[in-house]
Amino acid sequence: MAFWLLIPMRTPLIVANWKENKTNQEVADFVYALRLSVSGGREVVLCPSYVSLITAYDCAKGSAIKIGCQDISGFEAGAYTGEVSPIMIKGFCTYAIIGHSERRKNFHETDESVNLKVRNALKHGIQPIICVGEKLQERKEHRTEQVVRQQLTKALSGVTAEQLSSVAIAYEPVWAISGGDASHEPATPETAEKTHQFIRKTLEQLYNKQVADFIRIIYGGSVKPENMAGFMKEDDIDGALVGNASLPVESFLKIINY
Ligand code: PGA
Repeated sequence: MAFWLLIPMRTPLIVANWKENKTNQEVADFVYALRLSVSGGREVVLCPSYVSLITAYDCAKGSAIKIGCQDISGFEAGAYTGEVSPIMIKGFCTYAIIGHSERRKNFHETDESVNLKVRNALKHGIQPIICVGEKLQERKEHRTEQVVRQQLTKALSGVTAEQLSSVAIAYEPVWAISGGDASHEPATPETAEKTHQFIRKTLEQLYNKQVADFIRIIYGGSVKPENMAGFMKEDDIDGALVGNASLPVESFLKIINY
């Protein structure tokens, strides 16, 4: 029987994306402060920089906290200066954020490079969290669905239905991402839910209903302690990818205990 048929409920997935923040010591302090507060019922993933992955993993040992990275190489090994292969980190890293809009914008990632990374991660047992989302201008032009469909379709090219059970999708409308500004406005839960439903429908068309019902679609963009519960009330929002508000441990604790 296929794996996803055994699990009717989607466990909430809450991911801290620390971007270019936190020293090794700050990562260790955070994990120690958090570790006793993470128990069953939701999956909590911390994504520090590469240099702190092992520290985070060691500090989290014996707790329910999982570790992820913020990017991953599309190549297994070789002459790719600066890249980190899933082979190097698979012992201590469960997830990889792939295709974040900041990487697409600042480091010229394309749907094609995102696809290479997704397939390389899956090949070596790392679970991709694939980021999709429209820019403000695209939303104004009513192209949200077109953009998201293209990003999804290309990112998942060559990915089988079986493999898809290890994937999570993060819907992150680019205009809602805080950029470090705590006062930035998120999407409303209703606006996000509409696109989440569209993503699930698209996955059903690309694969089948069982896979689409199983996969977790999380929301990202100015998630804060005050608005997390509102997002989680929506049927198709299965968790959050949190940047700015995941940096102080008190704030992240409130988010995971929404
Ligand atoms: P934010 O970042 O929570 O600060 O908006 C989210 C993200 O970029 O993943």
